[in-house]
Amino acid sequence: MSADVLAEVAALTPEMRERVLREWRVWARREQLAPPGDWRVWLILAGRGWGKSRTGAEWVRAQVASGRARRIALVARTASDVRDVIVEGESGLLAIHRADERPVWEPSRRRLTWPNGAIATTYSAEEPDQLRGPQHDLAWADELASWRYPDAWDQLRFGLRLGDDPRCVVTTTPRPTPIIKALLSASRTVVTRGRSRDNARNLAPGVIAELEARYAGSRLGRQELDGEVLDDAAGALWSWEVIETGRVKAAPPMLTSAVFLDPNAAQSETAEKCDDAGIVVIGKGFDGRGYVLDDASGHMPVRDWARRAVALYRKHACAYIGAERNLGGPMIQQTIRAVLLEEAQATGRAPEHIEVKLISVRGEKAQRSAAARQLYPHVVSHVGAHPRLEDSMTTHDFATSKRSAGDLDALSLGCSDLMLQQPEPTRMVVEEHYDF
Ligand SMILES: Nc1ncnc2c1ncn2[C@@H]1O[C@H](COP(=O)(O)OP(=O)(O)OP(=O)(O)O)[C@@H](O)[C@H]1O
Ligand SMILES: [Mg+2]
Repeated sequence: MSADVLAEVAALTPEMRERVLREWRVWARREQLAPPGDWRVWLILAGRGWGKSRTGAEWVRAQVASGRARRIALVARTASDVRDVIVEGESGLLAIHRADERPVWEPSRRRLTWPNGAIATTYSAEEPDQLRGPQHDLAWADELASWRYPDAWDQLRFGLRLGDDPRCVVTTTPRPTPIIKALLSASRTVVTRGRSRDNARNLAPGVIAELEARYAGSRLGRQELDGEVLDDAAGALWSWEVIETGRVKAAPPMLTSAVFLDPNAAQSETAEKCDDAGIVVIGKGFDGRGYVLDDASGHMPVRDWARRAVALYRKHACAYIGAERNLGGPMIQQTIRAVLLEEAQATGRAPEHIEVKLISVRGEKAQRSAAARQLYPHVVSHVGAHPRLEDSMTTHDFATSKRSAGDLDALSLGCSDLMLQQPEPTRMVVEEHYDF
């Protein structure tokens, strides 16, 4: 806002100022206002921080104020997301209303009641049965692409049948899930797209730069920042959907974890001349599932992959660093030992012992990656996002690519070691003591 406008706002009475500050039509960007037309679903596919949730909340507010919405469903991925984002969030329903129009929130009844009698009920998409039965004339589905059960969406749609013109806004970071794809091709869907950047001036300083650094030109960045629905690349072993389906936000307790390393054949002291080195951390949870915890793969000279592997070993309290026995196994052991010795000399402490496990593998790299692929999404999950690795997984074509993919080799090595090997038979030691 310009200085003149700010001065004008400051000169207003407190009531008028509150009105202006909470008047969404003053603040909204054009794409954040509901499009005209006879749509049933307004699908907002936009990057992180674009203002999706604020737009959803403001639309619900306007529909209630106009008297059009009387029975509303508010649905988010989990019960805490509904409470923390939709209702109590910084741009949630309680925060955006003026005091005189604000609904009363009864968490125990999962209900918001507006002064004009409109009622909204909150639902968790993790419990689709909550949505079986109730009927609504308006709905807001936040982060639909991350809902665990498609049934929650089916039930929501089925119950959206009150009044002459029931409508729904879907606000979500896009993922190529069957529901999103179906919505995109449905005749009564109107789509709004947007990039994180569009809302830069309303985000804390540095947020966009941090996001851009994290996704640095990756395909995943086009999804997370630019709001694109990514197509699957022909010939790639993994689809986006299979990775998204298994993705979890946080790792459960780990039974064990290890860094898997594939430094690749063409090594050199300068990064440009090297193949990609694969450095992937995978854990096995107490639940028996595999979790991809970290990825530090990339072009780098010899000592760097060893240093990165050691750093990740410590960061994730790993049990060992694993590498392929036949692919320079002893060289890897020596390089890591050299890095540890170098560190010891610099600090004056004794060198740390890190086990470098040499793993014997069979079959071609492509076959091994295909075996790892079979573990997704039911046996292996990604913890958070690993943009670079996931780019490789969803684009690398073993049949046509001349480049070797160290990250995929490290991933398949880890999947095989943690998830596909038979456990070593437990040796029973029977001690014979008869002196009781
Ligand atoms: N037009 C606008 N004017 C002022 N503030 C805005 C505008 N649009 C969004 N905001 C603010 O920007 C911030 C981010 O918005 P919001 O949380 O709705 O984004 P989001 O796309 O849902 O983010 P996430 O991807 O994290 O879910 C919030 O503080 C919100 O109130
Ligand atoms: Mg949001």
